[in-house]
Amino acid sequence: MTSTNDIRRTFLDYFKSNGHEVVASSPLVPINDPTLMFTNAGMVPFKNVFTGAETREYSIATSSQKCVRAGGKHNDLDNVGFTARHHTFFEMLGNFSFGDYFKEEAISHAWNLITKEYGLNTDKLCVTVYHDDDVAFDLWKKIAGLPDEKIIRIATSDNFWSMGETGPCGPCSEIFYDHGDHIWGGPPGTPEEDGDRFVEIWNLVFMQYEQISKDVRENLPKPSIDTGMGLERIAAVMQGTHDNYEIDTFRRLIEASVEVTGAKETDENKSSHRVIADHLRATSFLIADGVLPSNEGRGYVLRRIMRRAMRHAHILGAKDLVMHQLTPALVSEMGQAFPELVRAQALITETLKLEEARFRSMLANGLKLLDDEVSKLADNQALPGDVAFKLYDTYGFPLDLTEDALRSQKRAVDVDGFNASMDEQRAKARAAWSGSGDKGTEKLWFDLADQFGATEFVGYTSEAAEGQILAIVKDGASVETAEVGDEISIILNQTPFYGESGGQMGDTGTFTTDTVSVHVSDTTKMVGKLHVHVANVKEGSVAVGDTVQATIDDERRSRLKANHSATHVLHEVLRRELGEHVTQKGSLVAPERLRFDISQPKPVSADELKRVEIEVNRLIRDNGRVQTRLLSYDDAIEAGAMALFGEKYGDEVRVVSMGSEFDTTDRDHYSVELCGGTHVEQLGEIGLFTIVSESGVSAGVRRIEALTGAAALEHFHNQQAMLLEAAGAAKAAPDALAGKVASLLNDRKSLEKQLAEAKKKAALGGGASEGPAAKEVNGIKFLGQVLDGVSPKDLRGMADDAKKALGSGVVAFVGVNDGKAGLLIGVTDDLTDKISAVDLVRAGAAAVGGKGGGGRPDMAQAGGPDGSKAADAIAAIEAAITA
Ligand code: SER
Repeated sequence: MTSTNDIRRTFLDYFKSNGHEVVASSPLVPINDPTLMFTNAGMVPFKNVFTGAETREYSIATSSQKCVRAGGKHNDLDNVGFTARHHTFFEMLGNFSFGDYFKEEAISHAWNLITKEYGLNTDKLCVTVYHDDDVAFDLWKKIAGLPDEKIIRIATSDNFWSMGETGPCGPCSEIFYDHGDHIWGGPPGTPEEDGDRFVEIWNLVFMQYEQISKDVRENLPKPSIDTGMGLERIAAVMQGTHDNYEIDTFRRLIEASVEVTGAKETDENKSSHRVIADHLRATSFLIADGVLPSNEGRGYVLRRIMRRAMRHAHILGAKDLVMHQLTPALVSEMGQAFPELVRAQALITETLKLEEARFRSMLANGLKLLDDEVSKLADNQALPGDVAFKLYDTYGFPLDLTEDALRSQKRAVDVDGFNASMDEQRAKARAAWSGSGDKGTEKLWFDLADQFGATEFVGYTSEAAEGQILAIVKDGASVETAEVGDEISIILNQTPFYGESGGQMGDTGTFTTDTVSVHVSDTTKMVGKLHVHVANVKEGSVAVGDTVQATIDDERRSRLKANHSATHVLHEVLRRELGEHVTQKGSLVAPERLRFDISQPKPVSADELKRVEIEVNRLIRDNGRVQTRLLSYDDAIEAGAMALFGEKYGDEVRVVSMGSEFDTTDRDHYSVELCGGTHVEQLGEIGLFTIVSESGVSAGVRRIEALTGAAALEHFHNQQAMLLEAAGAAKAAPDALAGKVASLLNDRKSLEKQLAEAKKKAALGGGASEGPAAKEVNGIKFLGQVLDGVSPKDLRGMADDAKKALGSGVVAFVGVNDGKAGLLIGVTDDLTDKISAVDLVRAGAAAVGGKGGGGRPDMAQAGGPDGSKAADAIAAIEAAITA
């Protein structure tokens, strides 16, 4: 038996050997199409190449593309499990020509591959063409040699393929396989065509047009080819079964489901096992591509798929949580072709476990409520909307799950009533919201949030994505268009722009189309879920409904990521170095730096800062992984995540873990925090970390500012430049600078000393040998002197010396510093009976505008603001002696 993995390989190898570029599957979240919820066909990643908006290095390509059809135009969720060929997740094998070959080569390759490489029996094959496509009809005749009755003309939309409401489209030709007359059904175009006997295996689309809007269709620049073959269908044909769920891949998953649920594969159980196997694939691939369960948008579709599978596990009577136990089977079956599954295995497992645990705890009560309510209803009465809403709101039953649960009773649900209850709850939530207080604009954001729901943020995995403009806000009001120069806020349905939150600044970047250029200077988050782009139209005009290419400034985002991840590492290192009392008191993650406030009673010493810096850099060099998981709040705390006191968290939280553990604590990671921000993938990307300042903010709160990567390096370069400049000025080699500065300071000290001595000598009238220049006043020797630049401290010693030199007499010194006067009077002991130094200093102080003064009879001091009157003070003192 040819395995599904071999069938995929053979397909890609065939087209590779025929010159096609083998392109890896794109993620399930289409970043190049804002109108699509999930990638739903092989051509989706090439949409812009078909229309000519994007060019690639190759003009023909092949891929095996992951697809999800659960939500939007192609939605198969409700049928899965109950038919042989519906899936939420499947793979589409395809070959593509972007203006290169057209119908002839497409038909020829398809025929070659299925008849020669895959060896299908040509008798079992027939094809369809669009009713007026004579060219395709003739080509099938010529290339495949099919008789006319096996080339069936179809006039309906079945043979005109389009991706969605808009996008590339064209007539198509489908290849059908006849599974044999033991199955009821007829060839396409016959009344029995809806039977299961003839199964479409390959669709060749002759892409010729682009659907611009409902009524406008234009030609593509060049006729192109898009083909799609469901891998599971061709595998069924080649493995001799008519049922996709019987192929090898599904058998392994169903066997694993039987094992973990303990429920045999009876007729009754068959559908449930199929639902589990199918939904396991959709769930795991969506999680691996960055979608996590939530109550909005893509995350909500994922949650519906997960919960549908989990209800079926419950129907099977599974006692334990089962879904997460199935990931090893899936990874071993598909991990080689899709390495992202292997990388995300831990995340997939934990997310499944959490979701199932929460759902299980609500399921039993919810089903009981449902039974009670149903027992009150007449046979054909629909379930009231408010009951369905209660199941949704209190027990986490998505509406379609309730519908699914009532399916066997053929009972409907009052969907209008459900929606009315939902609206009522929204109105209550709005009334309860206490926001910024700016009621005028808040109402606007609430209205927009109600109208559009949360913005899909695709920026954890992408730096660019197409988004559709949902609203434009100008001067506080919603408008339809904006022109060059307008300062506006724009809301898209999906965006890679991070809205400022959790300390991390919002992204900046551009919105562009062929004719439009909009600069986004900031992105904020409103009402907790709208990403609001603060924008300025530079070129062209934008209107609600337009699709724009939204591209963030990725260089700036890289620096934000590095700073955010460094903040987490810093936080944990500080706790380990300084103690567990350290908690986050504030955080700013800017592109150029990070600022982190912590509870810490005393300054962090230079030595501690150095140890912190060394440790953070060691972790960076260690290059540990950064992992994001979605956990319940309680599990996150259990896992050691640091939550911020006073923050409000939902029941489910993003948990960011970094690095591996090195010390004796029993946690798995070095740092574990609740965080919605964007982060590096490996700590090595931070590059370098340095603390540039530590300061106090308020009592018990210290602030650390730090730099990473190129900014840290630039800081070191600046420091180096300053060192060289200082060394140059000091005329020393940089490594001798410290010694040189110390010796210069020493020199300066001794020079200052010498200078003071010299001033002293000058004050005492020149050299000591000459003695002070004193005069006789009233029979008393009096030495009065104004001394520029001599401090009051020095005056005292000088006065003592002068007194000694005089033997008997009065010394009066007025030192003038910075325009102020300092007075000092000394009276030798033999005279203190007659003259008091205190009286004299008061007399002198008055002359320089001072008040008072004090001391003892032999030594007194005073000061005054007016140093220019110093000589007057001496005169006043002299006069006081005379008096
Ligand atoms: N786009 C077409 C399909 O999905 C062929 O690839 O069927």
